[in-house]
Amino acid sequence: MADEWGPLAALAGEWEGQGGLDTAFSHSRGEVLDTPYLEKASFKPFGPVDNGRQSLYGLDYRTAMWRDDEELPFHTEVGYWLWDAATGEVMRAFVVPRGITVLAGGTAAADASQFTLSATPGHATYSIGENRYLADHASTTSYEVRITIDGADAWSYHETTMLRMDELAEPLAHTDHNTLHRVG
Ligand code: HEM
Repeated sequence: MADEWGPLAALAGEWEGQGGLDTAFSHSRGEVLDTPYLEKASFKPFGPVDNGRQSLYGLDYRTAMWRDDEELPFHTEVGYWLWDAATGEVMRAFVVPRGITVLAGGTAAADASQFTLSATPGHATYSIGENRYLADHASTTSYEVRITIDGADAWSYHETTMLRMDELAEPLAHTDHNTLHRVG
């Protein structure tokens, strides 16, 4: 794909990964649980989007995760990845349909094969929004994701969402990781 997408060029396409692993507090089990998952993701290029002198190229993405042989996904996201070549800024703006929005950001070289994005609530640029229930009972206190590009046909992510939850005395590191393989 063209240079305009910088390090995001490698993520364009259709992807699947069978080896996902989620660590979260399960309300039905009343404990922190590790859950393997299957993921299917689609990343579609667009651009440019111009903000005055700023020119962004991006990927429109959606992803979904299934556990066991359940029919409905147990987690989904929709959003955009963005690249600003002038500043080396990479952004990921997405919604988790629990009532959470994240704009995570970081910097990377145009040919980077690894980069990290983060967000914290109340941050002036890369921030997290959540609904009132979550703010009171299961609040996200930070988000970080590390992307590793493993050649043309695979990439991985490791993400950590720190949560302050009613059920737990200590902060919970709600983590997810997977390797995605090109299927289109
Ligand atoms: C691959 C990505 C993710 C997966 C597979 C996933 C999955 C899960 C699961 C299984 C639970 C436990 C639900 C339950 O049994 O009660 C959960 C809880 C939660 N997740 Fe995630 N999650 C992911 C990413 C995220 C991200 C990126 C955020 C926020 C930035 C987030 C925020 C939360 C919150 C706030 C809860 C607690 C909800 C509550 O207790 O009421 N998750 N997630």
